[in-house]
Amino acid sequence: MLFKQQALLRQKLFVLGSLAIGSLLYLVARVGSLDRLQPICPIDGRFGPHGQDEIPLRALQFKRGLLHEFRKGNATKEQIRLHNLVQQLPKAIIIGVRKGGTRALLEMLNLHPAVVKASQEIHFFDNDENYAKGIEWYRKKMPFSYPHQITIEKSPAYFITEEVPERIYKMNSSIKLLIIVREPTTRAISDYTQVLEGKERKNKTYYKFEKLAIDPTTCEVNTKYKAVRTSIYTKHLERWLKYFPIEQFHIVDGDRLITEPLPELQLVEKFLNLPPRISQYNLYFNATRGFYCLRFNIVFNKCLAGSKGRIHPEVDPSVITKLRKFFHPFNQKFYQITGRTFNWP
Ligand code: A3P
Repeated sequence: MLFKQQALLRQKLFVLGSLAIGSLLYLVARVGSLDRLQPICPIDGRFGPHGQDEIPLRALQFKRGLLHEFRKGNATKEQIRLHNLVQQLPKAIIIGVRKGGTRALLEMLNLHPAVVKASQEIHFFDNDENYAKGIEWYRKKMPFSYPHQITIEKSPAYFITEEVPERIYKMNSSIKLLIIVREPTTRAISDYTQVLEGKERKNKTYYKFEKLAIDPTTCEVNTKYKAVRTSIYTKHLERWLKYFPIEQFHIVDGDRLITEPLPELQLVEKFLNLPPRISQYNLYFNATRGFYCLRFNIVFNKCLAGSKGRIHPEVDPSVITKLRKFFHPFNQKFYQITGRTFNWP
């Protein structure tokens, strides 16, 4: 009899225990999915008494996670509305220079919780076909963001394309413009290396850099070669200055961004009137890559793609000297106009 009662009690305890564990599992699963699927509460209310500039970093990281979901296209229209998400025109554009470190700059700025990057180069202002599609087309290419955030896009071809300054001016005459530059000869060789790699991928042969950079008939620098022309920064900048005052530009040192990125990023934060949020924690040197990589949080970090940071071919030192001599006066003018001096030879 006693044995029977004990067995019954054990059975009851087992059923109750299973029910309790089941309910617990259900609750965990439900809360988890609610967290992901439902808007947690209106954004403004979440940040209490803090001003916009003082939004606690943890809350911003939460928002960033949520934005990631929206970018992946997992958001419903209702969620977008409830979170006040918008596709905003950029408040700042990295207009160039090609091979200056434009991708690294964009990705690093995107570490800032108040910055949202347009991942792709949009080529709206330099491509007539895209430009003809109108400003709404451009806006729709932008990522979703919270109203207090700023969107940044980069298309390095903007810097050298004739029509672009006027077109950007027509969109927003007070936009902030970022130009990242490298020592002009190194940049030209980097430019060449990218084209060379493209040719090799297609099993095509290509000229040596020396042959393109030096005019064989005069033995002078070939100013018709695009990689040379792009490195004459002052010529391009002068065109932009017909539309925008110099105060609207910020020059980033692309060579320093490679070796010591944080101070360069801090200058950009200041220029964009953003509270300083990018720290040394967000950047770590990866010896295998030979470059700084990005740390977003304890679990998520990334390095730039292998196409960034190519090994350059060796170039005849006399050609390098010739190019450096050629760029020298243009560099001086560039320092004078921008107020930023570099130790370029
Ligand atoms: P190289 O391939 O000549 O080394 P862009 O993004 O404008 O095309 O510029 C590419 C350049 O970004 C690379 O040129 C590389 O040197 C530079 N760069 C700067 N910071 C980098 C980083 N953290 N990781 C990889 N490349 C970086």
